[in-house]
Amino acid sequence: MCGIVGYVGPRPSVDVVVGGLRKLEYRGYDSAGVAVIGPGGLTISRAKGKLKNLVDRLAEKPLTGRTAIGHTRWATHGRPSDENAHPHSYKGVAVVHNGIIENHMELKAELTGKGHKFASETDTEIFAHLISDAMIKGGDDLSQAVRDTLKQVKGTYAMAVVSEKRPNEIVAAKNASPLVLGYGVGEAFLASDVPAILEHTREVSYLEEGELAHLGPEGIRIENERGETVTRAPHHVEWSSVAAEKDGHKHFMHKEIFEQPRAVADTIRGRISLEQGDVTLDGLELTEAYVKGLSKITIVACGTSWHAGLCGRNMIESLARIQVEVELASEFRYRDPLVDEKTLVLAISQSGETADTLAAVKESKRRGARAVSICNVIGASIPRDCDGTLYTRAGPEIGVASTKAFTTQLAALFLLGVKLGRLRGTLSAEQARPHLEALRHVPAQMEQVLRQEPAVMPVAKRCAKARDVLFLGRNSQHPVALEGALKLKEISYIHAEGYAAGEMKHGPIALIDENLPVVVIATKEPHYEKTLGNMEEVKARGGEVFAVVSEGDNLAASLASVALCVPACPPLLSPLLTILPLQFLSYHVADLRGTDVDQPRNLAKSVTVE
Ligand code: F6R
Repeated sequence: MCGIVGYVGPRPSVDVVVGGLRKLEYRGYDSAGVAVIGPGGLTISRAKGKLKNLVDRLAEKPLTGRTAIGHTRWATHGRPSDENAHPHSYKGVAVVHNGIIENHMELKAELTGKGHKFASETDTEIFAHLISDAMIKGGDDLSQAVRDTLKQVKGTYAMAVVSEKRPNEIVAAKNASPLVLGYGVGEAFLASDVPAILEHTREVSYLEEGELAHLGPEGIRIENERGETVTRAPHHVEWSSVAAEKDGHKHFMHKEIFEQPRAVADTIRGRISLEQGDVTLDGLELTEAYVKGLSKITIVACGTSWHAGLCGRNMIESLARIQVEVELASEFRYRDPLVDEKTLVLAISQSGETADTLAAVKESKRRGARAVSICNVIGASIPRDCDGTLYTRAGPEIGVASTKAFTTQLAALFLLGVKLGRLRGTLSAEQARPHLEALRHVPAQMEQVLRQEPAVMPVAKRCAKARDVLFLGRNSQHPVALEGALKLKEISYIHAEGYAAGEMKHGPIALIDENLPVVVIATKEPHYEKTLGNMEEVKARGGEVFAVVSEGDNLAASLASVALCVPACPPLLSPLLTILPLQFLSYHVADLRGTDVDQPRNLAKSVTVE
């Protein structure tokens, strides 16, 4: 996730900004840069890779000035490179940006038509061009130029702009991505997150949606969308800088669980057209002729991404009526798999670096299949080896236990299912629309589920004392049961099994007694009466049932010691909701047992060995 820092005042501005960027490193990034307005005008330094590369460049060629903005970039448009690193500039205007400009293609085409030349592959560069043009038209009024530009832009942003025509001013604006303002005497600070400025000031306020801020030595002035001044008293931050990195959450995993509505909304953003009842999948060139010629899709993945693949199979088979196989990449690579040029191989990977998944991609390509991926990290090895990639926009996931990567993968798979359905003719625009409406509604429903965190505590207290826990789910909820069990075992070290509810009688039922908590996902979906039957079977054998149920379903709730509710949602999408109470459950069990939640023993975030 990109990080922004800005400073205007008497201190060496580049040092303040680079120091702030260092505090934002935890967000993950692939390049960094800084722009300064000094006596000679605007100067910029940028470098791909770690901040050290930028620092080395600045040591060779120091930049000085009283006003500076800086950025750590987490690539969303264009690969990580010096050219794509922010700040982007045009005719004395420099911009740093966190977010996505949805209509950047149209805007770029318009500007190119007017003779503008672009130096990067990013969407952000458009801001610099538009603001610079608007300044020329508007008599060098930077705020007005930013406001005029924002009227043309669709998407999400937190941005900061400097211009050599306004040497003591930074203008910042926000829509959806966060921006913190820091108050000093004769100086002002700006950042994506509090830790970046905590060393210098503890007096902060947050820019709200649609607001614009001017920062100068005289202080900070905030304006609303109508240009009216907003009075907002800063508040004093008490957090330590470590707590601040986690935004006040005790662990990154907890923070990342709460980031899911935003991450899913970002993954969907700009890819759905309700008008056309269709989906645009940037990065995956799928034509009707190619898709109609396919005999099957083979998904390859590991761990949580494999569970996402199992949900994806249900989605794609149901929406596009094409056969989907889901393979563990570590097995697939050593079998003699049946894939050929009529197979589309889909690799799913958060990191894009998992050795087994990468090997499965190479093996599929060797056998003539086309390979595409769903990945969270731009420019990682798997997307580099694939013929196309649909990126999830979860932002960096720091906790080893995957949470927001999983739900964004599900959102991406659903988009892919609808796209394939449209191309194969199994979904008309009319038929696709309600699916897309339901997907758009999911982030708000996720917020609703996240508010129920305290309801999980009694279940967590019970499970924290258990030696084993069984998770059961049917159909769409079977992969959720597997994922719930994986989350619990990896961070709490309690043995857990996920099972298809219908399989219980074929073995695991022998385990049931008063010592084995059973967590059942029993949302109201086709054949759910059968899952209720499984709950009865557990109770009849003295087992204790905890359940995830649909809101208002008293019958299912009456069969459980504790029922955790999720709102009504179509079965293909409901895993995006039902997994949330299970993430909370594993998190709180681990926290109660005092394990290292973010870095559980023996596990690595990116498994680059087989
Ligand atoms: C579980 C988890 C792992 C990963 C697996 C694949 O919480 O994080 O099971 O899902 O190692 O990793 P990626 O998705 O990076 O290929």
